[in-house]
Amino acid sequence: MWNEKSRVDGNICFDTRIGQLNEKQLIEKYNLNGPRYTSYPTAIELKEQPLNKQSVTTAMAKSDNDELSLYIHIPFCKQLCYYCGCHKYLARNESKAFAYVDSILEELASWQASCNEHYKVSQIHFGGGTPTFVDNSTISKIVGKISADYSVTENAEISIEFDPRTCDAKRLAELIEMGFNRFSFGIQDFNPETQIAINRQQDIKMIEPLVKVLKDKAIPFNFDLIYGLPYQTQSRFNDTVNQVLRLRPNRLSVFNYAHMPHLFAEQRRIDEAALPSATEKLAIQLNTMKQLTDDGYVYLGIDHYALPDDSLAQEQKKQQLHRNFQGYTTKGHCDLLGIGLSSISQIGQLMFQNEKELSGYQHKVSNDGVAITKHLYKSLSDQARWYVIKNLICNFELNITPYETKFGHLFNEEYKNEIAKLQTYQRDGLVKISNESIKITDLGRLFARLICKEFDQYLQDKMISKQFSKAI
Ligand SMILES: C[S@@+](CC[C@H](N)C(=O)[O-])C[C@H]1O[C@@H](n2cnc3c(N)ncnc32)[C@H](O)[C@@H]1O
Ligand code: SF4
Repeated sequence: MWNEKSRVDGNICFDTRIGQLNEKQLIEKYNLNGPRYTSYPTAIELKEQPLNKQSVTTAMAKSDNDELSLYIHIPFCKQLCYYCGCHKYLARNESKAFAYVDSILEELASWQASCNEHYKVSQIHFGGGTPTFVDNSTISKIVGKISADYSVTENAEISIEFDPRTCDAKRLAELIEMGFNRFSFGIQDFNPETQIAINRQQDIKMIEPLVKVLKDKAIPFNFDLIYGLPYQTQSRFNDTVNQVLRLRPNRLSVFNYAHMPHLFAEQRRIDEAALPSATEKLAIQLNTMKQLTDDGYVYLGIDHYALPDDSLAQEQKKQQLHRNFQGYTTKGHCDLLGIGLSSISQIGQLMFQNEKELSGYQHKVSNDGVAITKHLYKSLSDQARWYVIKNLICNFELNITPYETKFGHLFNEEYKNEIAKLQTYQRDGLVKISNESIKITDLGRLFARLICKEFDQYLQDKMISKQFSKAI
């Protein structure tokens, strides 16, 4: 049975013996599909409609934000991991990337004038695919173009997803020299049987020298792990987490494996019989939470942990944490411009996405300078609901008075139906509803995305099991 226990030093403690529902009942009731809410509306609501550059420039002029986060997508990987749900392309060598990088440079050139009129760039993130698939001189070309053509702030955060199998300490040192000041490593799991089953073999010995370089220079870094992969058990994942803890990353993403083989062909190579059951997954998740919080990490919510002095943990403490297409962020005051295939942007109340297919993306950029294929303008109702969802998913609490002051309507009247639906979560100890606030309990944090889903107008009448992964 479940209940919320008191919190010690900001850590969370779950007790599985007391509460309204036992573990089996909890899984049966709440192991449902739902979005991770990196935006509202979610990306699947973007409409396939043309959008010209001028409309984006108009949205930039209307936006309240004067800082920009630039996201650069490098989609190539030398070998595909079977679990992967990212937008990526298998490429054996770099030649395929040359023309693509030219398109990236062209797209950057095409946004330059409007961006410089409206923003300073305070964050640059290279994601993928595998950004380190291309060599350092190519990365330097892109960084150089941004530094030369855009107005980048002196203390901008420049980060990169770094596949430890593609790089060594020398390459890492060069990237630091180039200005990168935050790194993220794909780790997933150290268990050899799991590594074979996911087609990703990497020893901790590949990672230790990289961590040493970063620690020597006090540069923060993140590790990605995934639970729910083939052959994982509580005790095996426990070993992986213990190895990770010895390297003490500043942030940790412990993703719940999203198994959607109907969407991602490589996942069909995963033996479903080897996947842990929902009960085992929940046990792994709870055990990991305990290991990490006992060792001093703060649980930020949906898959993420950070050391207490990390900026994400600090912002959450002040109830100022934000979320965008890259996950939790301190850059809530930034608009986001995504460069490269499939990248999503958020400019004021305009969301748009680039062409997802490689040759289509390159073709569009060479014709028009940009490659937007989908977009959506957020309505007032979308903005109000995003405020609610963002507060619940980032800060686990929505205070009603600031909401009413901002949006000028009575919360309890506007969301009568949603509050009625939350009563069952309240009875099961997942939320606490009062006239002043909605608070997600420690136990409720495991199901935060389902609680948020109750405020999602777009999902009410949809079959969502094919588009979103399960909560557990
Ligand atoms: C773009 S990849 C990381 C960069 C680099 N390609 C690498 O693998 O090291 C981003 C992260 O998404 C996570 N990820 C990918 N597919 C996933 C899935 N189906 N479910 C959960 N997490 C997933 C992995 O943890 C992965 O490290
Ligand atoms: S996890 Fe990283 S390396 Fe593996 S296929 Fe996905 S993007 Fe490529």
